[in-house]
Amino acid sequence: MQEKESKPFTKKFKKNYTVSIKLPYFLESPLKREKTPMKYIIGNWKMNLSLKQAEALTLGIIQFLKETPPSSFSCMIAPPFPFLERLHTLITHEKDLLSLAAQDISAHEKGAFTGEVSASHLKEVGVKAALIGHSERRLYHKETEPLLRQKILQCLSHDLIPVLCLGESLEIRRASKTVPFVLNQLHEMCQALQEMLISKPSSSPPLMIAYEPLWAIGTGCIPSLDEIEDVHNALSIALKTLFPKHIIPLLYGGSVTPLNSSEILSLPHVDGALVGGASLSLETFLPLLSSASLVNR
Ligand code: PGA
Repeated sequence: MQEKESKPFTKKFKKNYTVSIKLPYFLESPLKREKTPMKYIIGNWKMNLSLKQAEALTLGIIQFLKETPPSSFSCMIAPPFPFLERLHTLITHEKDLLSLAAQDISAHEKGAFTGEVSASHLKEVGVKAALIGHSERRLYHKETEPLLRQKILQCLSHDLIPVLCLGESLEIRRASKTVPFVLNQLHEMCQALQEMLISKPSSSPPLMIAYEPLWAIGTGCIPSLDEIEDVHNALSIALKTLFPKHIIPLLYGGSVTPLNSSEILSLPHVDGALVGGASLSLETFLPLLSSASLVNR
């Protein structure tokens, strides 16, 4: 049977980018993406907090979530590896409210990989998702696309949700190449995995994407709302093309605080936030969660 020709779809963005995306034949018109039913907030604790502080923070979050209308948003925390088991025990009866994510995962199934943590180890301690390709892993551990693809495969074969982090450097931003750069990052990672991802049930997201401009992480600088919307808009079209049956949550990350979270989370293509610094204390994380619960989908 002869395949129908794909037609390129050209989209003009607010910041003078024009991007041509080749759509499959079954999606020939500009894409309307369904919204995720809720916002997703992930607290990335990185290499911070003592076990005592981690327990107190977790209990405080649970308390808050119990008092908040259910199903308006979904909350995950990504603590350091050694705390996962203890926190899993702590949230055993609150699994519907709060879930655990890992900050990284091994690209290998098992074996002689000193210092690595496998997908099955993470499953055993109740982990539901894993960050993949965070810019700090790409920068300090020289993680590149082939390795990251292996990590995504590990997640998918163990029913963990990969949270794939993408984002441009300041240099790329200044050269006005952000949208094509980020789209390229997405395609590099996802095209080879398309078949496996597509076979996942459409009832829950098989993958999440976090757009995190490198220059916004931990700096207090964030792109303008128009700039965030441009990137998310482009990513949402590309995701609909790659995974027509799934709604892939598209998170923004990089200096999200309670002061800017409402505005960012209100953007039409922003389905949540990956939060670093502001997730480390109840004083900043709870107001941020509160803003997520108030944003109407
Ligand atoms: P930040 O970190 O919120 O402290 O900027 C975000 C991240 O690294 O995921």
